[in-house]
Amino acid sequence: MNRHLISAGDLAKDDALLILDTAEELARVSERSIKKLPTLRGRTVVNLFFEDSTRTRISFEAAAKRLSADVINFSAKGSSVSKGESLKDTALTLEAMGADAVVIRHGSSGAPHRLANWVRGSVVNAGDGTHEHPTQALLDAFSMRRRLGNLEGRKVTIVGDVLHSRVARSNVLLLATLGAEVTLVAPPTLLPVSVGTWPCEVSYDLDSVLPKSDVVMMLRVQKERMNAAYFPSEREYSRRYGLDRERFAKMPDEAIVMHPGPMNRGMEIAAEVADSARSTIVEQVANGVTIRMAVLYLLLGGEIA
Ligand code: CP
Repeated sequence: MNRHLISAGDLAKDDALLILDTAEELARVSERSIKKLPTLRGRTVVNLFFEDSTRTRISFEAAAKRLSADVINFSAKGSSVSKGESLKDTALTLEAMGADAVVIRHGSSGAPHRLANWVRGSVVNAGDGTHEHPTQALLDAFSMRRRLGNLEGRKVTIVGDVLHSRVARSNVLLLATLGAEVTLVAPPTLLPVSVGTWPCEVSYDLDSVLPKSDVVMMLRVQKERMNAAYFPSEREYSRRYGLDRERFAKMPDEAIVMHPGPMNRGMEIAAEVADSARSTIVEQVANGVTIRMAVLYLLLGGEIA
């Protein structure tokens, strides 16, 4: 394993499998009545969040605490960042407080990479701009593996706002490493120009791809990152690319539905599909804690007690 986790593309197949297998072992520990392990006692994990988050921020905090690390939660809102303090000076301040690992979410693609040059501890990318979200891809792969078994040859369809999605890029990279076959489905306006270089197929026709999918992962339409009209209307988007009850019926009986959250219910996914027994959305949140425990454990070199 590298010292940092910045891109899913940095993970060799053995690294990715080690994280998934370690998470599986840690999941067994989480089923005990006493869930806490002494593994990272005396180590400090700093959660540095410059962008809003519910799932990622809380699960990294829960993961570090379950491993007995000391946790410092830093949110840009209410900090000296609002007085103009730079990322580098913020990082050096946290470094002076003895951070062994810095978990960073930032609106700028590449911010975790820059941070890794300034701090001695491990840097974990918790989402940078429209670039990557590697622990989301790991928890998604873990969730798929728990439902479907080995991912080799599995057909994964990722649908929606790929252009603004760090989740899509990290998933494509990790799933290709794990041997899955990924198809992206989106309107042409919501695909990055570089998508032809990604290790996946592209389709514009969701209805033709659904019957061949083992996994259908819906992406949030990221309205807050849109500065132009990428589709005629929300209704039109939903009609062409939304997963409603009729489309859900076209999927194979064993196929699962995923969404990284937060969801726009009624837009990219119908509420009854999101809440169905074949949806893994709630499991993904729980698995997020386990995967982040595995990442912190492996990066900080703990031992499972
Ligand atoms: N999936 C995800 O990253 O959610 P949050 O923005 O709530 O962390």
